[in-house]
Amino acid sequence: MREIRVAILGASGWMGKVHTMAFQTFPHFFGTAEGTARIAALVTSSASYAEELKTLVPGAAVHSHWKAVIDDPDIDLVDICLPDNLHYEVAKAALLAGKHVLCEKPLANSAKEAGELAALARQKGVIARVGHAFPCNPVHDLAREIIEAGEIGEIRMFKGCQHVDVFGDPEAPFMWRADGQLAPTGIVGDTGSHVFSFMERLVGRVSSLIAENFITTAKRPVIEGSALGMRAEGQKPDRFAEVTNPDGTHVLCRFENGAHGIVDFSRVATGRKFMQTYEIYGTKGSLAFTYDEINRLRFYSNDDRSGRRGYREIDVGPENPTYKAFLPLPNFALGYNETKIIEAAQMVRSIIRNEPLWPTFDSGHHICQIVDACMESSRLKRWVDIALP
Ligand SMILES: NC(=O)c1ccc[n+]([C@@H]2O[C@H](COP(=O)([O-])OP(=O)(O)OC[C@H]3O[C@@H](n4cnc5c(N)ncnc54)[C@H](O)[C@@H]3O)[C@@H](O)[C@H]2O)c1
Repeated sequence: MREIRVAILGASGWMGKVHTMAFQTFPHFFGTAEGTARIAALVTSSASYAEELKTLVPGAAVHSHWKAVIDDPDIDLVDICLPDNLHYEVAKAALLAGKHVLCEKPLANSAKEAGELAALARQKGVIARVGHAFPCNPVHDLAREIIEAGEIGEIRMFKGCQHVDVFGDPEAPFMWRADGQLAPTGIVGDTGSHVFSFMERLVGRVSSLIAENFITTAKRPVIEGSALGMRAEGQKPDRFAEVTNPDGTHVLCRFENGAHGIVDFSRVATGRKFMQTYEIYGTKGSLAFTYDEINRLRFYSNDDRSGRRGYREIDVGPENPTYKAFLPLPNFALGYNETKIIEAAQMVRSIIRNEPLWPTFDSGHHICQIVDACMESSRLKRWVDIALP
């Protein structure tokens, strides 16, 4: 049995904690026959959490700077859970050192940088994957199976969205996600990239688009220690900071295969705590997914008898081996953290088999091309073509 030695970068953050849990946990569900993982190093900029980590991950080295793990011969996989603006620099250094890389989304600040990383990953022959974990939910395997079997015919239309309301309140505290220096593409790279990952996975590549980005609140209070969008009772702002990247976006797009898309996403949809949906319309049927029913797919087929046609609700269940790894019955529900456990298991398997697995850095590059096109289109107020490799 081969063990992959993992370094988690940004270990005190949301994704850092989830990825740490995922690499520690996946063998309980997927077994060890396809390899296992050991978290050999953690990088955190939080001195207090560094102490906690020594207890949570016994035996792992804990560092305060990411450079400490890059040339470490005892690390096979560098897992980047740092803010967006660090992805490119850190992923590049890790690839140059010959490490396998799992990088949170968006892969880079621009398509140019992402393309460079994708080329480097290919050149080095390492496994390089982007952390778009949502499509790892086995319900989307079902969607892909139905599409690939031709059961909805040729895809004509995609509608998708992802909304949260963390910045719905104009007084919600400022954080790095609203800072154009730290997250240059704002909601487009942050949330749009997830919708774009579903588009690439289920429909195909986008060849042109027109988008409008918007900022709803120009300045937000800076409150040290506040959590994502939340302000503790009685906390007063020290100062205000300017929001310098988009809060929301509306997009119309065309796919390489002739399908048309309409997409929207934001962080200001008051009341939408987490909304993620897609609808895919083909010549023979259609599919619909909503995150509110996280393991359920709606499928409409023209092959059904006239007078009996309608959406059927399919709950993904143990017929799917990934679902079965966790639960013996449908509708007990796999949630977000399980998608990250699946992602970790797939990453280790992919390294051991030396088989790249979607979303590779090439997909991350295409997704960054869509992000860039949204930024450019919104600035130029016109349709933008995407140069597909
Ligand atoms: N795939 C998903 O569903 C998903 C969900 C949330 C976030 N993300 C992505 O994950 C990444 C991290 O987001 P998050 O929500 O976990 O952020 P976070 O703010 O919770 O965590 C970021 C962590 O990085 C640390 N950090 C910052 N600069 C550092 C540096 N120079 N050196 C070492 N550590 C440093 C911070 O201390 C913090 O612990 C982002 O790129 C984000 O877009 C992905």
